[in-house]
Amino acid sequence: MKSLTVLGFDFGLKYIGVAVGQSVTGTANPLLTIPADQGKPRWDKINEVIQRWRPDALLVGMPLALDGSEQKISHAARHFADCLKQRYGLPVHLIDERYTTREAKSDLFARGGYRALDKAKVDGWSAKIITESGLNHMMNVIDPPPPLAGKHFLSTKQLSPAEISRLIQQADQWLDASGNLIYPAQPLLPHKTLANLFFENSTRTRCSFELAAQRLGMKVINFDVASSSLKKGESLLDTLDYLQAMGVDVFVIRHGETGVPKQAAEHLANRAAVINAGDGINEHPSQALLDLFTIQRYKPQLRNIKVAIVGDIRHSRVARSNVYALSAMAVPDIRLVGPKPLLEFDTSLPGLSLHTDLVEAITGVDVVMMLRIQQERMQEAAIPDLAHYYQHYGLTQEKLAYAKPDAIVMHPGPMNREVEISSEVADGPQSVILRQASFGVAMRMAIIESLLS
Ligand code: NCD
Repeated sequence: MKSLTVLGFDFGLKYIGVAVGQSVTGTANPLLTIPADQGKPRWDKINEVIQRWRPDALLVGMPLALDGSEQKISHAARHFADCLKQRYGLPVHLIDERYTTREAKSDLFARGGYRALDKAKVDGWSAKIITESGLNHMMNVIDPPPPLAGKHFLSTKQLSPAEISRLIQQADQWLDASGNLIYPAQPLLPHKTLANLFFENSTRTRCSFELAAQRLGMKVINFDVASSSLKKGESLLDTLDYLQAMGVDVFVIRHGETGVPKQAAEHLANRAAVINAGDGINEHPSQALLDLFTIQRYKPQLRNIKVAIVGDIRHSRVARSNVYALSAMAVPDIRLVGPKPLLEFDTSLPGLSLHTDLVEAITGVDVVMMLRIQQERMQEAAIPDLAHYYQHYGLTQEKLAYAKPDAIVMHPGPMNREVEISSEVADGPQSVILRQASFGVAMRMAIIESLLS
């Protein structure tokens, strides 16, 4: 098993002792003492130690009253632990430190006499004891590997509920309390490269992956399919080999044909990771995870909600990946809604039902997910005309009134305004469409990080 490097902090209002430990030995050494001003630490100093040691986890000593109850300083320590988590995106564990200062003093005393004791030394030594106590605890905890580690991300079907929850948690660390994106304090994957290979038009998804990778400190190349040698007949697999040989670690692939990302993944095996960014009418798994992440932020009780997915179900890879993810998370009522020719889906999954009447189907739902009419994928005229479609399936304020009053409205984009959704709804108070865009960057950061860990 890989040895983990852990940094331990002995939190104090004036000084914070820091120690470094290794899980393989279970021992730690004091490193330094960082000044704090009424609990506000010198973050520049903490950044330096984090950058120097690149720890896998952090431990914070939790000062408690002798009976174990929390006191004022305990809240400050908890706040410090939260800040560490937010800034560095690392797991942070709180350690009961009731006896550490006493133990540190007596240890140091035994080693060199009481005169040698100064505050800084005691704090450093306390941090060592906190770290060793945390390591002893961690040695008994074997964390499962990150959900996508060493794999490819091709379908939401491949993920267990626990893995989906972990990805949501990982994405959540890149949002602040108001849901705005935050940067990692330092580049997390500075020596990794991502290549976007889009064989179909895309603005949102391609930019979202690019921004996510940049936030992680990666290099990004946007492979221009139109002007590439692929036009000269070079096969996609050859292109992947060349790019991989030049140092690409992750390929984000969108293709009009079902199965192309899977083919690429099989060819590359463990030489590089592949993310399916949409293949034909098959799947679009990162979209589904960002949708689920959005739903979860607004409706945390996934096991109690009703979701309607409305529109061109038949041609929608977004609908397919969403159904698998929602169903894995035990969402009990998933309603697929659309005109008969566009309503094709295997309904063997529990909780899934098909509807042709929009008003009936969205009555009482918590989430309305609208889909784009995929005219480019329709071989035959599946719907009479767009005005007719809007009349029956376009989401207007009037129809939305049948959903729960606090229902959220989603759309993966690009939207056809006044075809599947009215501008009033798209820009209205129940719409979370732009939130989906922000949360998408956080979720893609989590997916990339997990694949490369
Ligand atoms: C979706 C796609 O390409 O599958 N869009 C997206 O990823 N933002 C949905 C669509 O094109 O309708």
